[in-house]
Amino acid sequence: MCGIVGYIGDQKAKPILLAGLKRLEYRGYDSAGVAFIKNGDFQIERTQGKLSCLVDKLAGKDFEATIGIGHTRWATHGRPDEINAHPHYSKDVVLVHNGIIENYKKLKDDLIIKGHQIESETDTEIICHLIQDFLNQGYDFQKAIRSALKELHGAYSLVILNRNDNQRIYCARKGSPLVLGFNNGENFVASDIPALLSHTNEVAFLHDFEMAVLEKTQVTFYDFEGNSIEKERQIIQWNMAQAEKSGYKHFMLKEIHEQPRVIADTLLGRVDLEKMNIWLDDAGRLMKKFVQKPDFHIHVVACGTSWHAGMVARYWIENLAKVPVSVELSSEFRYRQPLVGENTLVVAISQSGETADTLAAIRESKKMGAKVLSICNVIESSIPRESDVTIYTHAGPEIGVASTKAFTTQITVLYMMAVKLALQKKLLDDQDIQDRMKALVELPNILKTFLRQYKGLDMMTEYLRNKEHCYFIGRGIQYPIILEGALKLKEISYIHADGYAGGEMKHGPIALMEDGVPVVATLLKDDLYDKMVSNVQEIKSRGAFIMGIITQGDEDTKQLCDLYLEVPEASMDLLPFVSVLPLQLLAYYVADAKGTDIDQPRNLAKSVTVE
Ligand code: M6R
Repeated sequence: MCGIVGYIGDQKAKPILLAGLKRLEYRGYDSAGVAFIKNGDFQIERTQGKLSCLVDKLAGKDFEATIGIGHTRWATHGRPDEINAHPHYSKDVVLVHNGIIENYKKLKDDLIIKGHQIESETDTEIICHLIQDFLNQGYDFQKAIRSALKELHGAYSLVILNRNDNQRIYCARKGSPLVLGFNNGENFVASDIPALLSHTNEVAFLHDFEMAVLEKTQVTFYDFEGNSIEKERQIIQWNMAQAEKSGYKHFMLKEIHEQPRVIADTLLGRVDLEKMNIWLDDAGRLMKKFVQKPDFHIHVVACGTSWHAGMVARYWIENLAKVPVSVELSSEFRYRQPLVGENTLVVAISQSGETADTLAAIRESKKMGAKVLSICNVIESSIPRESDVTIYTHAGPEIGVASTKAFTTQITVLYMMAVKLALQKKLLDDQDIQDRMKALVELPNILKTFLRQYKGLDMMTEYLRNKEHCYFIGRGIQYPIILEGALKLKEISYIHADGYAGGEMKHGPIALMEDGVPVVATLLKDDLYDKMVSNVQEIKSRGAFIMGIITQGDEDTKQLCDLYLEVPEASMDLLPFVSVLPLQLLAYYVADAKGTDIDQPRNLAKSVTVE
């Protein structure tokens, strides 16, 4: 989730690049840099920290170049410091990159053997040296890029300069966005439209396996084989605020729609279909040590949405890996005397990595001799720094206060952990492993299709928008999902919402059921489906208005519901992903109908750094 800008034309590149990067700042950043070509040499400036640090560093320096590239980084490989900041370079190549190169370790080892000196910890620098390696063999620049691309596994968008040619910028895309902008006598490239919009609204989007070569007066497009291709140009009608949200009305809606992609990013390089394995690096190695301990158990600590992710994980880890799991709110954990010790793997889950209660729970756990594995979205934040190992979700910056893509990427990591533990304990046969891994890899497409085609939310929204209360029910692994649905609704629409396990209704909450009371129920075809149907019948007969999240094509369940929304079939374990999306959307549309401040709901902060 880095920001990229490139410019070629007659104007000085520096102010154009800095202004473009500024437009991408909302995506988050931890370091930034720019590169220009002057007199056959690169001029590269990079800094750790906010873009303003780069602006300060460049102040007073007059760069004459009219060609250049720039980058703001959201770190995935390597600390967010100057040496890991982009642009990266080799003798003749300088480039910026957005994405993740899965096989960079192997490529790095091979390049080092060939004598390349690699300075940073990034996957990006490897690409410079790979291209350089082909240049050293006598390839022309474009062929050297194409040959390097063939060796890369993973996702990338790349914008590249050649030291010996100040007339061209080269771009390539596989899996990460790039958009070209056209103007008279100048051309632009960027990871997102806002970086271009003050110069032009005439754009073309690069698709996967496509390259572009930008010159001052023309842009030519190629496939990865070097064949030239035609590209249609489009006129973008968005204003700047719309562009920052990719045309969505709110960041929350944009982030809901990003989920298929960021789940795929989180799986990338970790699910190995060839070797039928899950790679979790240091975390995998720490887990392996724990599975050998006789009384190994896992204690999850987290708050809010991240706590719900932990509750989902309990079902998976206990079921697949047969490891006992307890899940606790960090704010409760820190003030009791929990029985954790050297056989406990404490799993701390946090999007921001700064939640004070979770940080305190980590410190307590370590004092008691436990090891801490954190799952976090923000690299180098406090929680990863204080944990023994961290698995990063690759959700990119989450701006909406109501967490959406952070949740689904957290449960992506947690499911991988459950499968990995089961593999380490040799509890899965080959077929089972294969089925689970395939299902995981197919998941982003299932979610993408759902987000394109779902129907039925408008009537639910209409029913709910003027209600004061709403109840959510679900069972089994759907129980934490409906808690998450209730949390989403209350935090952004300010409607009082409570979630209950279906079987628990008769122990109290059923007293609240009367004519027209809205109840959202997950009624998916899982192994507790029949039980849920009975629970719903019990409350329906007391007058509840049932809004069902049901499996596509399930005609019987449609009859049971007053309103329903169909979700696609998925493997049983992965149903939490398909059922949480409609609940996020329901909360969003109800809040939008009420006109609340969706991205910054009252009284809430994105990261809660105080007790
Ligand atoms: O950054 P964290 O994941 O540690 O944050 C935990 C909670 O504060 C957070 O999930 C909060 O509940 C969200 N607003 C939920 O949408």
